Amino acid sequence: MKSPIPDYLSGIMDSCAADVSGERAAYIPELAAADPDRLAVALCTVDGVVYAVGDADAEFTIQSISKPFVYALALAERGFSSTLDKVGVEPSGDAFNDFSLEPDTGRPRNPMINAGAIATHSLIGEPGAGAEERQERVLAGLSAFAGRRLEVDERVFASELETAHRNLALAHMLRSYGIIEDDPVEVVRGYTRQCSVLVTVRDLAVMAATLANGGRHPTTDVQVISARVARQVLSVMTTSGMYDAAGDWVTTVGIPAKSGVAGGLLGALPGQVGVATFSPRLDKHGHSVRGVQLFRRLTDDMGMHLMEIPSPGQAVLRKVRTFDGPHGSSMVFQLQGRLGFTTAEVVAREVVEQAPTTDRVIFDVELLYKVEEVGRVMLLEVCRRLSLEGREVILLDSEGVLPNPVPGSGATLKVVTSREELIGLASADQ
Ligand code: DON
Repeated sequence: MKSPIPDYLSGIMDSCAADVSGERAAYIPELAAADPDRLAVALCTVDGVVYAVGDADAEFTIQSISKPFVYALALAERGFSSTLDKVGVEPSGDAFNDFSLEPDTGRPRNPMINAGAIATHSLIGEPGAGAEERQERVLAGLSAFAGRRLEVDERVFASELETAHRNLALAHMLRSYGIIEDDPVEVVRGYTRQCSVLVTVRDLAVMAATLANGGRHPTTDVQVISARVARQVLSVMTTSGMYDAAGDWVTTVGIPAKSGVAGGLLGALPGQVGVATFSPRLDKHGHSVRGVQLFRRLTDDMGMHLMEIPSPGQAVLRKVRTFDGPHGSSMVFQLQGRLGFTTAEVVAREVVEQAPTTDRVIFDVELLYKVEEVGRVMLLEVCRRLSLEGREVILLDSEGVLPNPVPGSGATLKVVTSREELIGLASADQ
């Protein structure tokens, strides 16, 4: 069978292909000359399956989409506190190239606007490292996110550098406040090279999936950045990645995202998928017109909005039943899906409501596919309390989905690893 997903992606791509509104980025001559009709979409799941349609192998410069990744590298290299000293995390509500510096300190509001990204770029490498070393580290870092060696488009780089007056002004301002400590001209040169790295939508989808996957690359399996850094980056993308359209974006699309003036647009849905689109005509915020449309369709059709909370609590208890056997009575709670805080709370509430008076209480966790630490601790606490009430508590867990099943002081929890063993204990047909 052929997967229906590429056909679906082609369908939504075709539905917005006719829209030729918007303009290519005019302030960078090479981008103003790009083929405006290019159109592509790619998805990468957190387990590394890539679906791509349209001009999926066309290369374009990453531009501002580099910002969240270089921010991640700065956080990983310098640590949170030193990075936050230089760049804030508040949305500016202003355009990407606005000055948006805090009045007293000169600290850029966030790392997604140009001011913040220029400051972030200067943080890469050991303090005092030369511009070349910094640029190499940035290129190596972006390549690690992509899982392949990326290259710089020298023509776009030269073209942007020639017209980078505003970024140079920003960098000089940052230097005057002591936010950047190196030569502002060199820093803008490096930042512009960072923006001139060539990618495809496939690369961007994979890079986004790495963020969505807690910093672990979906195919190389390399932990590129820590889960804590990935969380920070996704948070800032959510509040500031779409600049002065961030509120509109988060309410209509609801995926942490970043756009670039070459026409790329990237979204990372935590724990699920990385998405990327490419279409060079931009709206007044500097976002790809058809890219925004494609993301809106994906969100609506696939329920990708971050705030569309599935109801995990309703599903965690598959069955609760009581039976009598020759060795006494048992109550069985059969769990399924994911055990996190909200689902463990549902289990705890059900146990409280059922108030088992049976000799034995059995938790069948065979159908849980994921146990978060908080869920593990909560379930074990439920077991501990039942045990202290005098119930014999049994965990049916043949795959060891509940790690370290020790319920704590004074309590006993028996783990059985097969239904046969359980039947032997409870003498009932499970
Ligand atoms: O610094 C600039 O202006 C460009 N290299 C990047 C701007 C950008 O991509 C804005 N995002 N949509």
